[in-house]
Amino acid sequence: MTVEVPNAQLLQEVASAWPTLWVNPKYKAGAIDGGDLPVNPSDVLDAKRNWERLAPLLAACFEELEATGGVIRSELLELKALRHALEYGSPEYGRLFMKADSELPVAGSIKARGGVYEVFLFAEGLARQNGLLADGGDIRKLAGAEARDFFSGYTIAVGSTGNLGLSVGIAARALGFKATVHMSFDAKQWKVDRLLRLGVEVIKHEADYTTAVENARVVAEADPSIYFVDDEKSRHLFLGYSVAAYELAEQLKGLGVTVDENNPLFLYLPCGIGGAPGGVTFGAKAVFGDNVHAFFVEPVQSPCALVHMMSGSEELVSVYDVGLTNKTEADGMAVARMSAFVATVMREMLAGIYTVPDADLLRALLAAYEAEGLRLEPSATAALFGPEFLLRHPRGEEFCAQRGIRDKMGRATHILWTTGGSFVPDEQFESFLAQARSLAQR
Ligand SMILES: Cc1ncc(COP(=O)(O)O)c(C=O)c1O
Repeated sequence: MTVEVPNAQLLQEVASAWPTLWVNPKYKAGAIDGGDLPVNPSDVLDAKRNWERLAPLLAACFEELEATGGVIRSELLELKALRHALEYGSPEYGRLFMKADSELPVAGSIKARGGVYEVFLFAEGLARQNGLLADGGDIRKLAGAEARDFFSGYTIAVGSTGNLGLSVGIAARALGFKATVHMSFDAKQWKVDRLLRLGVEVIKHEADYTTAVENARVVAEADPSIYFVDDEKSRHLFLGYSVAAYELAEQLKGLGVTVDENNPLFLYLPCGIGGAPGGVTFGAKAVFGDNVHAFFVEPVQSPCALVHMMSGSEELVSVYDVGLTNKTEADGMAVARMSAFVATVMREMLAGIYTVPDADLLRALLAAYEAEGLRLEPSATAALFGPEFLLRHPRGEEFCAQRGIRDKMGRATHILWTTGGSFVPDEQFESFLAQARSLAQR
């Protein structure tokens, strides 16, 4: 399709795979209360309650959650050495934190917030419908032999670039479900191997992520024993992620960080199909209102949210439509077409989107490792460039001026949401480091 974009220079930058920043011209203060969205703020609170109800079952299924009583949460770490390595030392950068979803238990990525939630919620509903769990009954019963035997008659299916498949596969197998993960051609082999070891069926498609999801959906629709986790449409995934905003609010409060109109909050969220960053943005808008400014970040060759949202088109625009390849080392973000559901919800809520070349993702991976010993995957390091775009890119400066926050930047808080990495095997991580070191020598 022909892509029409009001800003010709921006289209030129995007189509040439140059790193760039887009600021959302449709942004509206208070958009979350607009009324005609397919989700609303009370859904985030409901999702929080669902997580709380599921927690004892999660603790029964995953040893690593015993200490938190079944809560899946990540640390909020203030950046110190890495702050200087990234040249964010001056006071105009305010305070910088990393939301370390790269260390999330159960699945090692932000996908633990979505995939695990949807699978466990489905299991609970199925058990109730079939008389396995009475109202007020102990939810831990679903970790027992009778429930496992019952769940083994069902298959959970999902299409994935890797991490969503890992989270859904791990959650499904922990409850005794069968699981099938449809992987795109670019999925990393170690993710496939890990799923196979868990007894998950992995179907590797010779096609991109969108096609893997389409195939998975067709197979699932023909068989009532298959429950399909639909990354292009799922409200459950979206709301599972959204609850992270409450966690962040509690952590910021615990650290004495104020968020209000004089102390803005910025989120930088790696984006694939948009579910994870969209869910977190929605939750954050529900919690912090207009004092939070959420930016998505994408690889220069796979900016699916950017090409669609900047076009303003009703019909989904893909990265192929502007001549990009969708080839990137950031496998979690190798998505050519964003979720229409997320696009609708984000239309007036997202602050903007910036893009990063693979070489920079790898350089940042090396910097995070050398400065703080962090193990991030390339998708996650995309978050580290947010403050630079906001404070150094002309459109970032314009954004701050338009929102009346230019003189407040020294009091701002930046959250670099590092979305995955701790499950990356040593050998794969070494190879990322080697690629980054060879880039550094050039
Ligand atoms: C590490 C990582 N970060 C970010 C994302 C983006 O999430 P979404 O596809 O929901 O936008 C993914 C997706 O798999 C991921 O694996």
